Order: sequence, then C-alpha cells, then structure tokens
Amino acid sequence: MRKQIAAANWKMNLTVDKAETLLDNIISANINLSNDQLAVFAVPFPYLHLAQNIIGDNDNFYIAAQNCYSKKSGAYTGETSVEMLQSLNIKYVVVGHSERREYFEESNAFLAEKLSIALEYNITPIFCCGEPLSIRDAQTQNEFVAKQLEESLFIFSADDVQKIVIAYEPIWAIGTGKTATSEQAQEMHAYLRKVLTGKYGKDVAGNISILYGGSVKASNAKEIFSQPDVDGGLVGGASLIADEFITIIKSLK
Ligand code: 13P
Repeated sequence: MRKQIAAANWKMNLTVDKAETLLDNIISANINLSNDQLAVFAVPFPYLHLAQNIIGDNDNFYIAAQNCYSKKSGAYTGETSVEMLQSLNIKYVVVGHSERREYFEESNAFLAEKLSIALEYNITPIFCCGEPLSIRDAQTQNEFVAKQLEESLFIFSADDVQKIVIAYEPIWAIGTGKTATSEQAQEMHAYLRKVLTGKYGKDVAGNISILYGGSVKASNAKEIFSQPDVDGGLVGGASLIADEFITIIKSLK
C-alpha cells in the first residue's frame, strides 16, 4: 500500500543532547498517525541507537540511517553495513542523496548496489533523485531524472521496486529556501509515476510512495503534500525545529 511519509533528514547536524531534546519534543506532541501515514527520522549514525530508544514503540514512527555501504561486511573502514542497521532494528535508509552524489561521487550504478543490499536485508531504501539548476534551466529535467531511475531502479523486479520509496529533490531547491511550486512538484511526480508505469505497469507505479524534498517547511507542507502524486516530504532544515516538523507531520494527507 502506498504510504504518506514525513521524513526528516537531519544531515550532519546536532550534538547528542540537542538531538535527544528535538526527538523528545516531537514524540511528546503525541501525534496520531493513521495506518498509511509514517514519520521517519534519518539521524546521524552515532544517534541511531538513542533515537530508536526514544521513539520506542510509537506506532508509525521510524528511525532511518542516512546512508549505507554496498558490501555485506569486511575491511571497509568508516563504512556502515545494512546488516549492522538490521541488527539495530532500523527499517529505513536514505540512498543517493544529492549531497552523497555530489561530494562523494556516488553513481547511479553504485546506488543500485546499495539499493540491492538494503532490500536483501529488508530495509526500505528512500532513494533520492533530482536535477541541478542547469538542467532545470535547460528544461531537460524529465530526461535527467528518468535516467537516474532507469540506471538505479530498473534492475529490480516489480515486487522489489514497490518496496522502494522515491524522494524527488530538485537540487536547486535544497537548503536554498527556493521551493518548487506545488505544480512543479506534481508535474515531476506524475512524470516519474508515468516512467514507472511504462516499466512496471500502473498498479506497481501506483503503490510507490514518491516524496518531495527541497525547502519544505511548516508553511508550505500542506499545499505540496495535497498534490495527488506527492506522498509526503523529505525535509532537511525544517526538520531540526520541533514545532516546524510537528506541523509538517500533521500536514500529511
Ligand atoms: P532542505 O529541506 O533543507 O531544503 O533539505 C532538503 C533535503 O535535502 C532533504 O533530504
């Protein structure tokens, strides 16, 4: 079933005391989520365990990792395996954020390997895609994003691809305060669903959650999430402020 998801991406922010306070404040707001709504917190690795303990057995609240490595285990100093995440009972992992693609040169093919191992360990990947400003200016964003999907997702069976959450994050809207309009988000999300329909059929494409990311905040979340093909958001800056993110979770349809 297609879920509506408010996902926080804390990125490399917050010290442990601030992280604890933020999550405590959000949990103590006692937000009631319906069966098809989720709140997910992608926290820095050192806080995974603590964050798991804070959310406890709150229904439909989950902790995510912000990254994982493509290998099972071994001599890969500094990396984190999905087996480790599974052993912490982590259910989600962000894969292919534009910051990983840009600063760590992660390619579509490498990201396909990460998706594959995450699925093997029953961890739901939140796969990020999205175009830079130069591509948007040239109006070739559809082709650009379709290629990211084709090269990273299309190796998977229909069964597996439905387990992946997609986050469309136009790079020009990340951390810039410049949000895609809800029409621009809907247009791209509908296009992505069309690309997925072409490969896997309408039913499979209709089961996949597609989140929007890029300067989502309390004041614009409701309007963006109300679009028919937008199933929630992946939120950076505004997820670091309890009241902002509480409102964003409550904006899910
Ligand atoms: P901002 O919400 O800060 O624009 O970041 C978006 C993002 O990159 C989430 O992954």
